[in-house]
Amino acid sequence: MRKWLPAAALLAAFITGPATAGPIVIKFSHVVAENTPKGKMANRFKALVEERLAGKVAVEVYPNSQLFGDNKVLEAMLLGDVQIGAPSLSKFSRYTSSMEIFDLPFLFKDLHAVERFQKGEAGQAMLDSMRDKGLIGLGYLHNGMKQMSAYTPLHKPSDAKGLKFRVQTSDVLAAQFEVLGATAVKKPFSEVFTLLQTKAIDGTENPWSNTYSKKFFEVQPYITETDHGVLDYMVVTSTEFWQGLPDDIRAELKKAIEEAVEYGNSVALEQAGQDRQAIIDSGRSEVIALTPEERAEWVDAMRPVWKQFEDRIGKDLIEKALAANNR
Ligand code: SIN
Repeated sequence: MRKWLPAAALLAAFITGPATAGPIVIKFSHVVAENTPKGKMANRFKALVEERLAGKVAVEVYPNSQLFGDNKVLEAMLLGDVQIGAPSLSKFSRYTSSMEIFDLPFLFKDLHAVERFQKGEAGQAMLDSMRDKGLIGLGYLHNGMKQMSAYTPLHKPSDAKGLKFRVQTSDVLAAQFEVLGATAVKKPFSEVFTLLQTKAIDGTENPWSNTYSKKFFEVQPYITETDHGVLDYMVVTSTEFWQGLPDDIRAELKKAIEEAVEYGNSVALEQAGQDRQAIIDSGRSEVIALTPEERAEWVDAMRPVWKQFEDRIGKDLIEKALAANNR
């Protein structure tokens, strides 16, 4: 039987002729739902490519951690199993410590300041800072400012003491809870709902769109409107895949990514507002607004994290980020 297989294969090749090259397949893997800024951006990219590069490039979008979880997608990309992804900026710290700037608590005053920093010289240079590790940043995509949620109301930093919070795989994010006397638990995004539902953890931090689309609000009775940090993304590809593309296809794909990112960014703020309102309307979770005095307490409690990571991130980079608040 073993002798027959190669002969059969040869015969099949003779009859059908040499295999014709199919389209270039781009697997776009991400972990969030489709009704989020990232989900919408990925689907828009697929639609643009289908319209402009039909027959030449096919995009397959895998949302909701269907293909790879957020702790595996960059490794998969380097192995050629995924071609495009958009992990949150916190997931890049093992490739470049400068990216930890985005995790410092209370650094950026709002999403407009984040955008100014990303569009500035330092932010743009960071897109190229992982080339030697095999990754190229193609653009920044917004989700939004993060809120803290828990089973118990969080008005003051002392309310977080002794609680367990899930964080992404970032030392800065872990440190921001540790300075409050809380425990930080690094876990993949796909596990957060179950961890909350089973009360293996007490709370988490996420922007409105993730809290809404992943139903965290159904298992977290209190959400405090802290806006204490940002959760944005970098659309990223592997250097090997990107450089190996024919020039005309690469140029067309770059244009499609830029347009899809612009679209994702244009819906992010509105989506955050809508999802916040939908959570309030559900009555499942109480949204707690901080008074200016309470907010100042959170800032004072978490600011020491900046000093802790200043050498690793770079004092001048922190200053550039702060300058983006003032324009
Ligand atoms: C994401 O928005 O891609 C996931 C964020 C998280 O891990 O909390």
